[in-house]
Amino acid sequence: MLKCVDAARLSPSAANLQPLKYIIINDPKLLKKVFSTLSWAGYLSDYQPSEGEMPRAYIIILVDEKISRTPNHDTGIAVMSISMVAHDEGLGSCILGAVNREKLREILKVPEDLAIALVVALGYPAENPVVDTAKAGDIKYWLDENGVLHVPKRHLKDVAKWNSYQNQ
Ligand SMILES: Cc1cc2nc3c(=O)[nH]c(=O)nc-3n(C[C@H](O)[C@H](O)[C@H](O)COP(=O)(O)O)c2cc1C
Repeated sequence: MLKCVDAARLSPSAANLQPLKYIIINDPKLLKKVFSTLSWAGYLSDYQPSEGEMPRAYIIILVDEKISRTPNHDTGIAVMSISMVAHDEGLGSCILGAVNREKLREILKVPEDLAIALVVALGYPAENPVVDTAKAGDIKYWLDENGVLHVPKRHLKDVAKWNSYQNQ
């Protein structure tokens, strides 16, 4: 967990302002409470992680708005650093923005001058998602009959342009 936060700490930030703080959660009682503030996999109806798939830790990313009023890019970079180091360590991660922030603030006693930006759920991966090419712009992930998660990504030629937006 500390390796993940250290990678985030060393990540670039606008004007090197470093407005982010982190709370690491690994206390089993708190894990349940944090879980109750999160919404999972919006495109899958009625999806909930099973008992064996519950995250084993969380890293909560906080923003000190006294330091920076435009921290969104910094938060994106930091969350990616966390996810990549976790992956390197054999952990799976899920970034969560659908968070009941009021409830989470109360549970973790986060002072009002820190905004809760994102939550990263971490654990040993229970699934092997498949990356597909999005067909007709449909980017909704889905589960096949074997319970394998398919994640459609837009085709490279649809997102990468050479020298002008008009060119293919
Ligand atoms: C900023 C951000 C917020 C997200 N919020 C949620 C969330 O609240 N709940 C969830 O289950 N997944 C969430 N995700 C995960 C995305 O749904 C997931 O990254 C996307 O479907 C692509 O899948 P992949 O990460 O396997 O490529 C979020 C991802 C990002 C980058």
